[in-house]
Amino acid sequence: MTLFSCADESAHYGFSVSMLLQQYRDQLRWTDDGVVELGTGDATAIADVVAGLPELRVRSFDISASSVAAARANIAARGVADRYTVELGDFFEGADSAGGLPVSTVIANPPYIPAPDGDILMPELWGGVHGNDLVLRLLKAGYTNVLVAVPSYSDPGGTVRTATDLGYRVANFLAMGLDYGRYSSEPRVRAHIRALCAEGRGWSGEDGYMVAVALFTQDPDIPGDRSAQLLRALKLPG
Ligand SMILES: C[S@@+](CC[C@H](N)C(=O)[O-])C[C@H]1O[C@@H](n2cnc3c(N)ncnc32)[C@H](O)[C@@H]1O
Repeated sequence: MTLFSCADESAHYGFSVSMLLQQYRDQLRWTDDGVVELGTGDATAIADVVAGLPELRVRSFDISASSVAAARANIAARGVADRYTVELGDFFEGADSAGGLPVSTVIANPPYIPAPDGDILMPELWGGVHGNDLVLRLLKAGYTNVLVAVPSYSDPGGTVRTATDLGYRVANFLAMGLDYGRYSSEPRVRAHIRALCAEGRGWSGEDGYMVAVALFTQDPDIPGDRSAQLLRALKLPG
């Protein structure tokens, strides 16, 4: 089974993307350029966002064939296939290949499960040893705006430090507590998360963790920096 399924997490991702896109509509210019997405999953969260924002176009990629099949069906069922397209393949190989105008905003609820290796329940969700490999790659990929989910146990401090070094600020974010789901509950993953938190690379409670969907930006027209607030919002006692 290689289809990601976590209703609460996907709903938070979709709601947060919708709110941040609308709040920063003028600066992000998504009505002109559209956005690209790493990791479609079953597409339901963002298909609803696209349905609610008639000027939004999303070009999405997923490496899981079953996700792409489910996503295409869900997108068609919501009547937004003309504005939400899905391609099978690695985002980092596909997103720049289209030619045309460069897109300045990427959205993602990326794979963020930390584990010693990819031998986990759904290998496509492996985020590297610290869980933030994919976010770091997105920050280094040259997008002006990276609107991305940041979990409390996947070295968020390292993510924010790298973002700052690359000239990003946290414009804003929406944070929510989540119960451990089937992917983070795997005993091997739980033990690894505990070890990461013990060495100061994140925070996690006994039963749950925090996720924030944050807008990292290099755009001088978007003022302020909520990086410190983001880290405080993700902080849970171990
Ligand atoms: C946490 S799921 C999120 C799915 C969906 N956006 C949601 O929130 O419901 C991450 C998705 O990223 C996909 N993925 C992992 N690595 C990828 C890559 N390099 N390029 C594109 N998709 C990738 C996985 O197959 C998975 O479907």
